[in-house]
Amino acid sequence: MKVLIVGSGGREHAIAWKVAQSPKVDKIYCAPGNAGISEVAECVNIGAMEFDKLTAFAKEENIDLTVIGMDEPLVGGIVDAFEAEGLKVFGPCKNAAILEGSKAFSKDLMKKYHIPTAEYETFHTPEQALEYLRHSKYPIVVKADGLALGKGALICNTKEEAEDAVKTLMLDKQFGDAGATIVVEEFLIGREVSVLSFVDGHTIKIMTSAQDHKRAKDNDEGLNTGGMGTFSPSPFYTEEINSFCKEHVYQKTVDAMAAEGREFKGIIFFGLILTEQGPKVLEYNARFGDPETQVVLPRMKNDIVEVFQACMEGTLNKIDLQFEDNAAVCVVLASDGYPEHYDKGYKITGLEQFQNKEGYYVFHAGTKLDGSDIVTNGGRVLGVVAKGENLKAARENAYEATKLVCFDNKYMRTDIGKAIDEV
Ligand code: AMP
Ligand code: GLY
Repeated sequence: MKVLIVGSGGREHAIAWKVAQSPKVDKIYCAPGNAGISEVAECVNIGAMEFDKLTAFAKEENIDLTVIGMDEPLVGGIVDAFEAEGLKVFGPCKNAAILEGSKAFSKDLMKKYHIPTAEYETFHTPEQALEYLRHSKYPIVVKADGLALGKGALICNTKEEAEDAVKTLMLDKQFGDAGATIVVEEFLIGREVSVLSFVDGHTIKIMTSAQDHKRAKDNDEGLNTGGMGTFSPSPFYTEEINSFCKEHVYQKTVDAMAAEGREFKGIIFFGLILTEQGPKVLEYNARFGDPETQVVLPRMKNDIVEVFQACMEGTLNKIDLQFEDNAAVCVVLASDGYPEHYDKGYKITGLEQFQNKEGYYVFHAGTKLDGSDIVTNGGRVLGVVAKGENLKAARENAYEATKLVCFDNKYMRTDIGKAIDEV
């Protein structure tokens, strides 16, 4: 089989690496890819939003399966574009990717189908939102309806902050049309857990849990980022919580989408918060998480291509999804200064030490080839992943492995997975 992967981050590198394990696969392409991905796939210089070029490429190269990693093309209808050309593609159609693409849609869906989530109101004008904020309890969360690079949820401690948030989203239009509608939501307290799942329209199979560290600095200080590290499984995601979510969240979401005529095939990523009143859904994503994928897929035993095919064919009920009984930790090596100002173009050394090192991986996020060198090319540069028999061992292994890689402005958090010691 020939497989095309669309995207260019650490998530897509982990997907490409996992696809490469499949005996069914002869050749992998990635558009646009990065320097690390080019070790397992041939990178093609086509952007993820260039649907016409991507479908033309897939037809020309007789691609058997295309896997979409990123949210923006999914929400923009890339799956519909591929299917219109008779091409096989893994991911939700546009009318189902709205589960991630519109927070107002997903909140209304949860309300209608009694799926536990934070209380909320939706507003289309700043006047209505500001009036509502006069009588609200604080803190409160103000969210852009649409995609905003993970930066569209503003936690506001006071009325003044919330008013500023409404201004930022609706008047200054910081996230463009994504902020034309906003959701104002009750602030919830609890631990966050990421649960990824495969869905074939009707059947849902849950992967192992993970937890992301979103803030730039240790102790969850500093600015929000795309994710500074992850661990899997989350010790806070207990069997009891799993049972609750199976009954009240997972299948209900899939059934709700089908009942709305929006059959969902692909990945649903449940962003959960474990509150004192029980687990609630903070958000849905319609794709693999980044950097959750980097700790989840190395622990997955199945041939991922078989699972992708089962999702597309509606036979997921026949798949026995299995994960190793161990743990994995991913420490992101970033450029110092991320997520604000940082320099790039620094030579990276030591990467070859990960080759054939059992249980250790280095997934590239922002790297590129410069002659025969690999250089830094983004805020998040690499995800160093290690497995271990438990989370503590995985963490020790991962931090040990971060020492193997050098580049000039290397920065990382030193406490990824540390909260697990409390359990
Ligand atoms: P979202 O884009 O909806 O996932 O929000 C991004 C982040 O904001 C989440 O991962 C949480 O850390 C935080 N957040 C979002 N909604 C809430 C809420 N209702 N209560 C507390 N924190 C929230
Ligand atoms: N790690 C969070 C996300 O992928 O949205």
